[in-house]
Amino acid sequence: MAPDDCPTFDTALRTKLAELSDEGWKIWSRFDREIRSRRWHPFVPADFERVLQALVALRRPGLRFLEWGSATGVIAIMADLLGYEAYGIELDEDLVAISLELVRQYGSGARFVAGSFLPTGYTWRGHDGDGRLGTVGEGSSGYPKLGLSLDDFDVVYAYPWSGEEAMMHDLMRARGARDANLLLQRSSGDVESFRNGKLRRWPA
Ligand SMILES: C[S@@+](CC[C@H](N)C(=O)[O-])C[C@H]1O[C@@H](n2cnc3c(N)ncnc32)[C@H](O)[C@@H]1O
Repeated sequence: MAPDDCPTFDTALRTKLAELSDEGWKIWSRFDREIRSRRWHPFVPADFERVLQALVALRRPGLRFLEWGSATGVIAIMADLLGYEAYGIELDEDLVAISLELVRQYGSGARFVAGSFLPTGYTWRGHDGDGRLGTVGEGSSGYPKLGLSLDDFDVVYAYPWSGEEAMMHDLMRARGARDANLLLQRSSGDVESFRNGKLRRWPA
């Protein structure tokens, strides 16, 4: 694909995205049965269809997209299929392996690495001085493996557990690009994007 072009959002692309979403839900059912029924795990999938709506609305040629905590990689692969240059960072290596299999299956160019989306040296302190990270785990930062830093991305997406949004906004202010878009799936089900102090929401 030429860097100044986005794939046409035609029937073929819609069908491929729908198949990917279905496959993502099947993988989630298996993961829930085999892993999550035995021990707690932070992976719960976003509402793929709603995030897709936001990705379609925000896409422009040449945008670089990063999924924080990419799990099985469905969202980052959707972004790649829509024409973003897409990446994912996920702490759980077994989940990264699943995303690499989906990359192969869907002929995607998305790149995934095992590691933390927290850049080296970043520390979080909330207004009350509380530095707890909730379900966000610790590990070596994934950015060096990508050869990119957080401020190289135009759109950064995450599905935070409730209470973790403030840290994500702080991280973008501290280390993100000035004009970048932070896209969050909220536990309410809405998807919100924040850019230069402006909020957009899906469904509108
Ligand atoms: C709520 S799930 C979101 C999954 C996926 N992004 C989506 O929207 O469907 C959060 C994911 O973040 C991962 N995670 C937690 N802490 C992380 C960290 N510091 N760096 C990278 N991934 C992390 C978890 O393993 C989990 O897969």
